Amino acid sequence: MSENLFLTPGLARADHYAELYPQLEALTTTESDLTANLANTAAALRQAFGFFWVGFYLVKADELVLGPFQGPIACTRIRRGRGVCGTSWAEARTVLVPDVEAFPGHIACSSDSKSEIVVPVFKDGAVVAVLDVDSDQLDDFDAADQAGLERLMQLAAAWF
Ligand code: SME
Repeated sequence: MSENLFLTPGLARADHYAELYPQLEALTTTESDLTANLANTAAALRQAFGFFWVGFYLVKADELVLGPFQGPIACTRIRRGRGVCGTSWAEARTVLVPDVEAFPGHIACSSDSKSEIVVPVFKDGAVVAVLDVDSDQLDDFDAADQAGLERLMQLAAAWF
């Protein structure tokens, strides 16, 4: 594909994810570099949905380390089981947080972040990274985001 995303204005989120998927699939299956694919995915999600922060943390030894992202600077290392990202890694599942202040152990990289969803990336059954998406609005994520992002992260396994 070209380096432009095709995004129809005014669609429901589920339809935006459906529109985005084949474009990211085309973009990333023709590129073998992990960083390039993570970077374009973060940019595409921010461009499509206007999220406050979108990025990846990569599993490196016993920590998550900040990878490609879009948004304000963020904390660079997260221990397994810590915060929303570390919980998603430790429990190998998507964690959806409607109100970050109500999540025990949430790591506040920015006080503007109000709700969050973290989706693990699996390679050969193990978590190799997590996708973290933050919103500056409370309760901004639902089952449509979870389904759309989990489907995208199934693509991501091939990049590792
Ligand atoms: N809030 C995350 C930390 C990462 S930043 O939001 C970018 C957490 O609790 O794991």
